[in-house]
Amino acid sequence: MAFWANKTVVVAFGGGIAAYKTLELIRLLREQGARVWPVLTASATQFVTPLTVQALAGHPVYQDLFTPQAADGMDHIRLAQEADLLIIAPATANRIAKLASGLADDLLSALALVRRKPIVLAPAMNSGMWQHPATQRNISQLQADGLLLVGPESGALACGEQGVGRMAEAERILEAGRRLLSPKILLGHRILLTAGPTREELDPVRYISNRSSGRMGWAIAQAALRAGAEVTLIHGAVEMAPPWGAEALAVESAQEMYEATLQQWDKWTRPGQQLSCAILTAAVADYRPASRRASKIKKELDGELSLKLTQNPDILLALGERANRLAQKNRARPLLVGFAAETAETEDAAAQLVPLAKEKLARKGCDLLLLNNVLAPGCAFGSLTNQVTLLHRSGQQEIWPLLAKEEIGERLVQTLQNRL
Ligand code: C5P
Repeated sequence: MAFWANKTVVVAFGGGIAAYKTLELIRLLREQGARVWPVLTASATQFVTPLTVQALAGHPVYQDLFTPQAADGMDHIRLAQEADLLIIAPATANRIAKLASGLADDLLSALALVRRKPIVLAPAMNSGMWQHPATQRNISQLQADGLLLVGPESGALACGEQGVGRMAEAERILEAGRRLLSPKILLGHRILLTAGPTREELDPVRYISNRSSGRMGWAIAQAALRAGAEVTLIHGAVEMAPPWGAEALAVESAQEMYEATLQQWDKWTRPGQQLSCAILTAAVADYRPASRRASKIKKELDGELSLKLTQNPDILLALGERANRLAQKNRARPLLVGFAAETAETEDAAAQLVPLAKEKLARKGCDLLLLNNVLAPGCAFGSLTNQVTLLHRSGQQEIWPLLAKEEIGERLVQTLQNRL
């Protein structure tokens, strides 16, 4: 919410059918508190009307390079210099060609030429036009000039074809803008993350799992990506798509998560590679059925069913041991961050959590551990908020207030920056 408040974004429409998605982008920007200055090219008005755009943006539409009604007739200079961000969506093949060759024959091309601040480009066109060498040449030029490209994506196109050319969805364009404007405090760092629940199969149709939604891990991944980090995200079954730009590896069971995480750790701690940090937010099942039945377990007419469980490997513990081995060889030791989701029903029980968490931090070889009480208000598994206590290996302890998980992700990224 706070990120877009008081930011001014010029949203410029090119002339393409995807312009309807840009209306949604304006709605999202305004919902998040941004000021929107809309620009329509002449051909964009064939797809959306100035009145629609003006009503959504809450601001008159800029259309012409020459505007006698503007006091100095210098809208293109003012728009370019005063806005925090320029988003061109949809960016048509023609618009991209104009931008790449530095033309300034209408308001949008003139203001893009004046602008030295960030520009996001969301192309949308027929796949043949997109793949044409001329368009690809122009795109390479614009990327070299520092514009951030978002999309195009593949799928069904308005012309009836399937292929690459669909404009990115409004949320993704918004996220691209946010990444472009965010301070790159973790640039050059690689982060390994585990997130979500694991599923331990009983038979082909049933499993044991937990209520983890993966939201905490997602929020940290998102904050790290915004800060410029490379993120490898190993996750169990969750409902969300992986954050844009993360290298995501989907697993099911604790054993699979263990193997994938160790493999990624080994890959990124090889000589010549540099892993800065591993953050283990996953709610890994401590136990799995001792054996998986090949066919569905049948209900007995009377009596009980006993399940024999066996312990899963502890991923965090294994990484702690590997981290110590690196340190013994005088190699850089990645920071290790663990989570402890506990349950305390009373104040007295809650007071006991900190010493237990400190013991866990030391035993598992963590540098930092985030402790939370799942039974505290706003802290349930799957909620959008959480209240954590951050424990440092040094013994330092920070009690954070109840915060949106997104904000906890941002604070943790700040903490990592200080430590790295
Ligand atoms: O011991 P406990 O399950 O409370 O430890 C929680 C921390 O350990 C979390 O960071 C969790 O991701 C990690 N963990 C793990 N592998 C397990 C169990 C927990 O990595 N098998």
